[in-house]
Amino acid sequence: MKICAFETSCDDTAVAVVENGVKVLSNVCLSQVEHAKWGGVVPELAAREHAENWQAVLDEALKSAGLVFEKIDALAVTKGPGLSPALLSGTTAASFLALFENKKLIPVHHVFAHACAVFCERDLKVVRFPALVMTASGGHTALNLWRDYTDIQPLGKTRDDAAGEVFDKVAKKLGLKYPGGPKISRCAKDGDETTFKLPRIFLEKDSIDFSFSGLKSATFRAIEGLGNLSKQDIANVCASFEKAVADTFIEKIARAAKQFPEVKDIVFVGGVSANLKLRAELKDFTENSGRRLVVPIKPNYSTDNAAMVASAAYLLYQKNPEIAQVQFVDADARMVIND
Ligand code: KG4
Ligand code: ZN
Repeated sequence: MKICAFETSCDDTAVAVVENGVKVLSNVCLSQVEHAKWGGVVPELAAREHAENWQAVLDEALKSAGLVFEKIDALAVTKGPGLSPALLSGTTAASFLALFENKKLIPVHHVFAHACAVFCERDLKVVRFPALVMTASGGHTALNLWRDYTDIQPLGKTRDDAAGEVFDKVAKKLGLKYPGGPKISRCAKDGDETTFKLPRIFLEKDSIDFSFSGLKSATFRAIEGLGNLSKQDIANVCASFEKAVADTFIEKIARAAKQFPEVKDIVFVGGVSANLKLRAELKDFTENSGRRLVVPIKPNYSTDNAAMVASAAYLLYQKNPEIAQVQFVDADARMVIND
């Protein structure tokens, strides 16, 4: 079954064609560069860019898959959560296409799609259930229990900033351009993670929720205290900050694993999961607890992409073919997982 999926929940206009949830025939992603000068994503601007570009991105995805549109078995689209205007561009485009071309359309939850990114270019057995899914991106930080392919239960989420958002804000404060995550990760390689004593916010005993605003403020104060920043200062701030984020993720995963000792694998997804230092720290922790860390096979499956949406749609369809209808899918910026 070949699914052509659309992803427009933030600032990437993405279209992919994936066969049977795993075989990525094409994965095209146009990252909008216009937001850099504003230091963050402007929702209305993102929506306009999606509306202008989705057709060209679709053409490119079909061309690189070597397929004509008629050979597509179903469409899929990110319904939510995300930036409302951005989502609306994608759901409207995909819905009109479905209605005009008489194709079935499958709505997909963005955080569930991030989890399914681990199936891309692999096979469906790569995750052993039950698993814990740590999703960290620019818009979401969530720890979920993944009991079976389409059965995913929320355990904890951020109470303030998302992890990726804090990476971007710290980067901005350091004078590094948006998106800051990859730049922090690059600078941190030359830094000493013990230079700054940054807080690890664990919240109440046993809480699986996250809070990053305290870490953000403390990192800002550390930067302000330095005055003129040398290259080494920047590297040390980045390394200390990255380590604080890693320790926070690990503590929360450890708490969740204690509550659900039957968990076999830990899945780490979302844009922040492209970070090699975080991957390494999480891998050490996971393997020490006798489990396995599963991450997307390529960094472009960590960040927003449409292949993960197609994988998720395939699994949803396998569970319930009724989910695919020739329909108008409305965007839902606050969509709840497993609704
Ligand atoms: O998943 P994603 O593409 O979009 C959302 O769903 O939000 O995640 C984007 C976020 C940005 O905040 C970006 O700075 C962060 O992921 N990111 C990283 C890295 N690559 C992207 N954060 C840390 N290290 C990285 N290597
Ligand atoms: Zn995302």
